[in-house]
Amino acid sequence: MKVFYGYSTIILAILVFAILAAHHYGLAHTPTSAAAESRATPTPASQANPNQEINDRLAKQVLEKIAGKENDPSEKVFKNIQIPWLKTTPAGRLVRIMNLGYSRALGVSCTHCHVEQDFSSDDKRPKRAARDMAYMHKAINDQLQKMQNLDLKPDQRFINCSTCHRGAINPNG
Ligand code: HEC
Ligand code: HEC
Repeated sequence: MKVFYGYSTIILAILVFAILAAHHYGLAHTPTSAAAESRATPTPASQANPNQEINDRLAKQVLEKIAGKENDPSEKVFKNIQIPWLKTTPAGRLVRIMNLGYSRALGVSCTHCHVEQDFSSDDKRPKRAARDMAYMHKAINDQLQKMQNLDLKPDQRFINCSTCHRGAINPNG
């Protein structure tokens, strides 16, 4: 019994820490939408991006430009937001998704997808590919919600970019 309580305490402590950490990064779970959570889930920090320094600098530059509007919906702050669920995402959070989600999942810098002088431009093919990927990723998450024979509860089931990419541009490469 003692051993059992010992383990429960450790597990509880880990859970509390994880929840606090999620809140700290502004990525707290929204119970109403497991899919929304997965879209914002960052790639684990252990998966270091060789471009992290440059990405942090570019993210900071964007954040400085939108200072005071971080909590406004992305579609109001930015010029070319087409993915429906990103339209309402707070602008500051979109930048974090770009940095800790998209970029880290592929192990690339922002400029793999973006023209550095104009982040709203769709000139680079990988940016357009990423948009297609976002729709695929949502379709998979919607499918996961419907499955009948999974052990995990619906709000615990999700994939994100990193589930496939794991730090590489080509998951099959
Ligand atoms: C894998 C491709 C990819 C990477 C890497 C990426 N982005 Fe994006 N980014 C996108 C896509 C796709 C959109 C458009 C989303 C939409 O249409 O809703 C976007 C939109 C944006 C926008 C909105 C621009 C506007 O005015 O419409 C900003 C700002 C932005 N990204 C910043 C960044 C920053 C900063 C980084 C690096 C830390 C980054 N992105 C890395 C794909 C990427
Ligand atoms: C189900 C697995 C899977 C998921 C989830 C996934 N991808 Fe992909 N992605 C792939 C595969 C496979 C390719 C094709 C690789 C290639 O063309 O080199 C690819 C290619 C891409 C490319 C083209 C790379 C290039 O430079 O040509 C981008 C950009 C991309 N993914 C971004 C994303 C983003 C952003 C997400 C999350 C919103 C995501 N992917 C989620 C499997 C996935």
